[in-house]
Amino acid sequence: MLIMGADALAASAGDVQQGQALYEARCFGCHSVDANRIGPKHANLIGRKAGSISDFEYSPALRGAKIVWNEKTLDRWLQDPESYVPGQQMDVSVSKAEDRKNLIAYLKTLSTKTAKK
Ligand code: HEC
Repeated sequence: MLIMGADALAASAGDVQQGQALYEARCFGCHSVDANRIGPKHANLIGRKAGSISDFEYSPALRGAKIVWNEKTLDRWLQDPESYVPGQQMDVSVSKAEDRKNLIAYLKTLSTKTAKK
């Protein structure tokens, strides 16, 4: 077994700061928290139905997908969007499980901080 330090331990629960850095590096080109860009905004993503931002033009595949975003569904989506939702239009995937975990930890913070309802 590998000997892992404190960093790896923190990552097993999902590291918000690393997730934010990854988001800025790999997602921000197309997404932001509060505004639609090439991809839909991510405020309050957790608990939201996939393809449900009314003023964003999704693919029919994602708009019709019966998915609610949570840790599990986001992990599948980020690992391989096209195998999860064939016909979707996000041509990006995150192959490392640890990166996905950190990204999801960050995405979870967007639901409490920016909740307006
Ligand atoms: C090259 C542009 C691009 C990049 C980079 C990108 N996305 Fe996307 N993303 C999209 C597009 C376009 C959609 C809408 C896809 C559709 O309608 O089929 C989308 C949709 C999504 C959705 C579904 C949102 C909803 O409202 O249902 C999530 C979650 C998501 N992206 C997360 C991420 C994360 C996390 C990253 C960084 C690892 C990322 N995306 C990087 C373009 C991108």
